[in-house]
Amino acid sequence: MTAAPSATAFPITRSATPVPAAERAARMENPIFGKVFSDHMGYAVWREGEGWGEHQIAPVANLPLHPGAAALHYGQQVFEGLKAYRWADGSVALFRPDANAARMARSAERMALPAFPEADFLAALDALVALDEPWVPSAPGTSLYLRPALFGSEPSLLVVPPLEVTYTLTACTVGAYLAPSKQGASIWVTRDYHRATEGGTGEAKTGGNYAGGMRATQQAHEHGCSQVLFLDAKHGRFVEEFGAMNFMAVRRDGSIVTPRLSGTILPGITRDSLLTLFRDEGREVEEKDIAIDELIADVRTGEITEIFACGTAAIITAVGQLKSDDFDVTVGTGEPGPVTVAALTRLTDIQYGRAEDPHGWIRKVV
Ligand code: PLP
Ligand code: COI
Repeated sequence: MTAAPSATAFPITRSATPVPAAERAARMENPIFGKVFSDHMGYAVWREGEGWGEHQIAPVANLPLHPGAAALHYGQQVFEGLKAYRWADGSVALFRPDANAARMARSAERMALPAFPEADFLAALDALVALDEPWVPSAPGTSLYLRPALFGSEPSLLVVPPLEVTYTLTACTVGAYLAPSKQGASIWVTRDYHRATEGGTGEAKTGGNYAGGMRATQQAHEHGCSQVLFLDAKHGRFVEEFGAMNFMAVRRDGSIVTPRLSGTILPGITRDSLLTLFRDEGREVEEKDIAIDELIADVRTGEITEIFACGTAAIITAVGQLKSDDFDVTVGTGEPGPVTVAALTRLTDIQYGRAEDPHGWIRKVV
């Protein structure tokens, strides 16, 4: 057995002007998702022929970016999202950061970017979370959202894989991603736009997928819905995923059905964790193509009793209504159902250390 490669050190430069404690507490009170940044960031640069260097944890600052930087023009960019959770005993834990490291390496490969070594991915998270630990909130449902990213930073308008790539790691204090609601979310199933195609970039976590989906989300809002659900591009028939979350449905018999990882959807870590926990409970879990017409018929007859969206940011969002040009159906009672609610409790109990971690998903940081 070969030993895991050891991590590069991330020397720390502490901010000379951290946000004062009272101001930090005020900002952390009711954080808007992705707006309340901590004091520090992780940083490194890769250069063709040299590899990764300049590793550091430093005060958050604007980057010295040339307007011709490759990613600003051609979108050579990948990112990740994971959370640090404050436990009742004051300690802080990450959830499955190794899975995010592996996914970022796969996304990078798809986008012709160099991989950021997994050991360094973890070392930077450990160092930043430990340093910015005061930004990890303790109110229910809150956490420190961590955003590793890689992007082509070389000033060059050549359409080629970049010769210089910058890694950044930022951290934001977050509450619940969507306002908690007794009603399930209203979802617009778009037939006008697709998120991904076979052979495209759908299974990579790259910015362009989100840019391409924003018009569809606007359309959802125009129809009074909060989020969009995409169908596959080839047939316009099979459920893929929401704009930034995976799709799951519960059948009357308690079994779970979710789209298979066809190459066009993001392999969500929340999705994988929930499927594992559902299997632990002895539920049948099916990963398969889900035709929208059959899904709507099954919602109407009550064969499908619950639908929810899952992802790191919101963890689980119940779906109350599915709408499109040709249907408008209420899922179950329109409120979060028992399987949805229990799954949220089961997963968050592990993340916040209220329950045992049977699969070794937790990485204690502080
Ligand atoms: N699908 C998309 C398009 C996403 O952006 C995300 C969020 O990261 C997910 C699914 C859920 O993935 P995860 O559970 O790893 O956060
Ligand atoms: C998720 O965590 O579910 C996300 O999709 C993150 C989002 C802010 C891009």
